[in-house]
Amino acid sequence: MSIVNAKEIMIPAAKEGWAVGAFNVTDLLQFEAVIDAAIEKKAPVIVQTSVKPSQFLGTQMMVNIYRTLAESAPVPVCLHLDHSTSIDYCKKCADAGYTNIMIDASKQSYDENIRQTKEVVDYCHAIGGISVEGELGTVGGVEDQIKVAEDEAQLANPEQSVEFVERTGVDIFAPAIGTAHGVYKTKNPKIDFERMAIIHKMLNSNGIKTPLVVHGGTGLPDDYVAKLLAAGGAKFNVSTELKHTLLDAKWEYLSAHRDEYDPGKLDVFVRDATRKAVMHWMDKLGCEGKA
Ligand code: 13P
Repeated sequence: MSIVNAKEIMIPAAKEGWAVGAFNVTDLLQFEAVIDAAIEKKAPVIVQTSVKPSQFLGTQMMVNIYRTLAESAPVPVCLHLDHSTSIDYCKKCADAGYTNIMIDASKQSYDENIRQTKEVVDYCHAIGGISVEGELGTVGGVEDQIKVAEDEAQLANPEQSVEFVERTGVDIFAPAIGTAHGVYKTKNPKIDFERMAIIHKMLNSNGIKTPLVVHGGTGLPDDYVAKLLAAGGAKFNVSTELKHTLLDAKWEYLSAHRDEYDPGKLDVFVRDATRKAVMHWMDKLGCEGKA
């Protein structure tokens, strides 16, 4: 009951003006913390793995952890593969039991992006129960194996966005609107809220068909999050912040307990810090009580 794909939990979010939090995890501890936060907030949630952590633990291990945690959670949980540039790896994760797959062919030409995205969509839809995310334009910054320099980042064109969604059949769509992966270099990053709202309107004004994804959650000012919610953002991706939380909490605990050799206590401290960070995001996204 708690195993869901991304589209099915994003549609009510997009209709009602809130968003599902999508949190990148690298290990079991973060995985548990995200689901604990969702249970505490009674919120649907998306757990994401970038390609490298997914390969490090192994796709089947990730899916086994997911199934074990999600099946006993009283809230809907989706497992999403984030930014795979490899069609084969998308297919492998779909076969293993991921419920949302992102093929990121955004660095390719427009036609090649469509071709690769459609191939993944067709494959996942044939399996059934899996939604697919595609990206148009390029999101700046560094995410896992993908690096996009500031001057390379390109915003999504609204007309092309509509054509891209139609030709690929993607279930959820990430238009590049100026957000970036990693830590923003300025306190007021330049985000094209209007472009987001236009794309949302063009795709979803006759009923929500293709909910929109916001990448680069870390460091977005609260008022930007509110504006992006109003512009149609129904999934917000947060990765770097949770990496910082994990490592900062480890440093803090270990520095204060230099002579203690009890990994369990360290894990409890780190998991709690992560759970709190996730709950803070859930407050901003308005998803509390929506499960
Ligand atoms: P941040 O690392 O900036 O939070 O971005 C996460 C993201 O968009 C993952 O796809």
